[in-house]
Amino acid sequence: MKVVQVEHGAGSYPVYVGQGLLGMSGIWERHLDGRVLVVSDENVAAHHLGRLGPVLEAHGRFRELVLAPGEENKTVAQWQRVIDDLVRLGAQRDATVVALGGGVIGDLSGFAAASYMRGIQVVQMPTTLLAQVDASVGGKTGVNHADGKNLIGAFHQPTAVVADLDTLATLGNRDYRAGLAEVVKYGAIRDPHLFAWLEANADALSSRLPDMLAEAVYQSVRNKAEVVAADEREAGQRALLNFGHTFGHALETVTGYSQFRHGEAVAIGMVLAARLSELLGMAAAGTADRLHELLDRLGLPTRLPDDIPHSALLKRMRLDKKNRADQIRLILLESLGRAVVRSCPADDILEVLNQS
Ligand SMILES: NC(=O)c1ccc[n+]([C@@H]2O[C@H](COP(=O)([O-])OP(=O)(O)OC[C@H]3O[C@@H](n4cnc5c(N)ncnc54)[C@H](O)[C@@H]3O)[C@@H](O)[C@H]2O)c1
Repeated sequence: MKVVQVEHGAGSYPVYVGQGLLGMSGIWERHLDGRVLVVSDENVAAHHLGRLGPVLEAHGRFRELVLAPGEENKTVAQWQRVIDDLVRLGAQRDATVVALGGGVIGDLSGFAAASYMRGIQVVQMPTTLLAQVDASVGGKTGVNHADGKNLIGAFHQPTAVVADLDTLATLGNRDYRAGLAEVVKYGAIRDPHLFAWLEANADALSSRLPDMLAEAVYQSVRNKAEVVAADEREAGQRALLNFGHTFGHALETVTGYSQFRHGEAVAIGMVLAARLSELLGMAAAGTADRLHELLDRLGLPTRLPDDIPHSALLKRMRLDKKNRADQIRLILLESLGRAVVRSCPADDILEVLNQS
């Protein structure tokens, strides 16, 4: 097991990365104190909830809540169900919510923990690669509103994150690959060694070799921890984590969130952002091709589908509140391993879209 300690304004918390962690009693004894509400979804519960049984029985005072899976359930109504169960459990200020699931369960349960009695503990137990390398670390919690993703939420840091690599064995291939896109992102924006390591081990990662996977999760968590420690509330460098996301979000929205996994849209978005960086003369020729090749080897999409209207994508990208006049704020590359925030003309973005 490896541990990354994440520093934040009010203290710090450990992220445990390894195998066999869900049933490890030492972790539970260290982080659970009062009553415990375990929140999961149907898919995850079917495979992994049973592994918590012995530790929960030993702890005594607990309830389990299993919700329907999927982004469409990241709602105020499901948040209310978590709160109702906390009330039924008789949870006090020393209670803990354990979020066993992907980013949806993590965000939703984290927000319930942030708001119940003005804040109780949450332990994140992420079960998707995306949640292990990204969503469970950093303290962003929330639910969706009919008019926008993550419109309702709070910053609420977990007391611990338990990334048990064994849980990933039951994850579908598309979700696994989508998570790898975020690993590539850390390499591209701030860690050239990680990027080169991914190039050297892409095939082993594609076939989920346990040692490689452990290293990929550990290095990603270490990178995310460094970024959020330096900028807990996203005032500065945390924005770099949005590399590929402005294009990616636009693509997800224009395709009605049905065609692409988040990580897939981000993979296409990262290649577009790298091409734009070259067009603007910021990055050397070949940067985007190298990124494209790695993502391709990891089985991720790298090109916009032909039937996506570029004007619709651009329109979505202009909606970002941080934009000014005809400039759009984006994360661009100076090299693989170094990213910056830049405003760039809409015309240049359209040119890259048209070339792709
Ligand atoms: N808080 C943050 O900083 C942050 C960062 C990135 C993304 N997010 C959020 O994360 C969410 C996406 O997360 P996600 O991709 O994990 O989605 P998800 O939670 O919907 O999980 C994807 C699917 O995999 C299933 N699943 C989860 N773990 C499994 C396992 N081990 N075996 C089998 N099936 C499993 C789930 O039931 C679901 O159907 C979005 O809502 C996004 O907004 C949050």
